[in-house]
Amino acid sequence: MTDQTHFGFETVSAFEKTRRVKDVFRRVAQKYDLMNDLMSLGIHRLWKNHLVWDLNLTQNAHVLDVAGGTGDIAFRIAKTYPHLNLQITVCDLTPAMVEVGRDRAINQGLLSGEGHGIEWVCGNAEKLPLPDKSVDLYIIAYGLRNVTHIDKALFEAFRVLKPNGKFVCLEFSRVTLPPLEKVYEFYSFHLLPALGDYVANDRAAYQYLVESIRQFPDQETLADMIKSVGFKSVNWKNLCKGVSCIHTGIK
Ligand SMILES: C[S@@+](CC[C@H](N)C(=O)[O-])C[C@H]1O[C@@H](n2cnc3c(N)ncnc32)[C@H](O)[C@@H]1O
Repeated sequence: MTDQTHFGFETVSAFEKTRRVKDVFRRVAQKYDLMNDLMSLGIHRLWKNHLVWDLNLTQNAHVLDVAGGTGDIAFRIAKTYPHLNLQITVCDLTPAMVEVGRDRAINQGLLSGEGHGIEWVCGNAEKLPLPDKSVDLYIIAYGLRNVTHIDKALFEAFRVLKPNGKFVCLEFSRVTLPPLEKVYEFYSFHLLPALGDYVANDRAAYQYLVESIRQFPDQETLADMIKSVGFKSVNWKNLCKGVSCIHTGIK
């Protein structure tokens, strides 16, 4: 039997999902950063800042930003903790996103080899091109819901982390305030795809984005999945009543 999964609300094979996700991010790569600001009215910046400020990083730590895309999280970490001499690696499935990220890094003097540089690699969260126990902090921001087999990505996170290493996931989640849920629902299913159409000329990509949020496990379910691969001290913190959520765990 073929390995079936979801691409938004559609049932597709696992192979097809990975192919389509890669294609969505190839198409939106050039407009990705602009669209994030427009779609969230800049609020994604506050959520990402929140995540980065909460990190308890130590000198010389190796930070892995999985599904790091155009580098938003990696840049924030490099700029917030320049004194810690961190090793930062961005790993992403889609070459076009990595290319945009590398260009941004060059513009900001943050490419590997230039002081507090960032290393960029193409790779799948389900099979990371990194050795066992090589990373102090694993971050995945708005990436996990795009991964075909979430359980495999969580196993990989556990594998590459050193003992006591930290897992951090920032992702859209379940809104916990009913009136807000109604507004959010209307915004997501009506305004957002239209905005994607107008700005990025790609309604389908942003329709997928909305549907993928609905298909993603809620706070409790994701916490159970994180625990089931072996993480301890699993916690989560809702942002804007669960529109986004930060899950953490310790190896
Ligand atoms: C919504 S973007 C998030 C980018 C960035 N982390 C941010 O917060 O702005 C999702 C990213 O996940 C990447 N992605 C999707 N599936 C992946 C996988 N299986 N492994 C690694 N990256 C993946 C996409 O290429 C895309 O760059």
